[in-house]
Amino acid sequence: MSCCPAEAVPSQQGGGPHRLVTGDCLTVLSGLPADSVDVVVTSPPYNIDLRYRAYRDQREEADYLDWMVAICTELRRVMKPDGSFFLNISGSHSRPWLPFELIVRLRPLFALQNHITWVKSIAIGADSTGHYKPVQGQRFLHHAHEHIFHLTRSGHVKLDRLAIGVPFKDKSNIARRGHAQDLHCRGNTWFIPYRTVNSRAQKFHHPGTFPVELPLWCIRLHGTPAPLVLDPFMGTGTTLLAAQREGGRGLGIDIDPSYVAIAAERLAADASPC
Ligand SMILES: C[S@@+](CC[C@H](N)C(=O)[O-])C[C@H]1O[C@@H](n2cnc3c(N)ncnc32)[C@H](O)[C@@H]1O
Repeated sequence: MSCCPAEAVPSQQGGGPHRLVTGDCLTVLSGLPADSVDVVVTSPPYNIDLRYRAYRDQREEADYLDWMVAICTELRRVMKPDGSFFLNISGSHSRPWLPFELIVRLRPLFALQNHITWVKSIAIGADSTGHYKPVQGQRFLHHAHEHIFHLTRSGHVKLDRLAIGVPFKDKSNIARRGHAQDLHCRGNTWFIPYRTVNSRAQKFHHPGTFPVELPLWCIRLHGTPAPLVLDPFMGTGTTLLAAQREGGRGLGIDIDPSYVAIAAERLAADASPC
């Protein structure tokens, strides 16, 4: 289990309509009411020895999988029956099986309603977009994508596809196919590059954030107005920022008080930009 002392005593701070909790998510989740959350968007530690401030991202794989299954069991309990759980996770060159091992372990708990591929960088023909890190050695390709597993309790949750739709390239399709608006489904590959950051401070002193568009698109796709959005591994609060921008309420949990403080600052700055 985590070595962080904050785990023992969860503490809370406000953030406008949001709730930010410092503590171990398994403990905090067990105190939340059942059937209460509209959308979960989260990216857990990937067990790849990433240098977080408090959490040690290196467990025995079996222990990591058991831990994640216990957390996802709680997430299923707190989700509304028509809620959505978007789980962002990735393998690595050293642990390529991990996301697949996990998703198979979650099969008794959830329907895998959609499997979205988050494309972080892409080459089309001779052109490339997004950030390409140098690859060590000769065995592996540049890691350009991550998984977003869309898990639901029933597999029958209605979505608002056009809330993240894209305009038709061929406008004649609109009338010909009887579409009400100039939008079609985006599909299950989402190209969201990282914004270029020029300084360490811009990275919010956190090694593993996702771009705000990722939770924003998940929340819009789920489609509930003013949703309650939960991130049990909140980090710097990107999911809560997206919830705020969509007129929702966020509930964020992180084991590390310094990340919770950064999340509170980001939410406040975003609520009153000047
Ligand atoms: C991949 S990061 C999430 C980053 C976040 N999506 C963002 O954009 O900032 C995973 C987070 O899980 C937190 N964490 C690790 N163990 C935890 C636990 N038991 N309970 C709550 N948070 C935990 C880490 O401190 C880290 O901030």
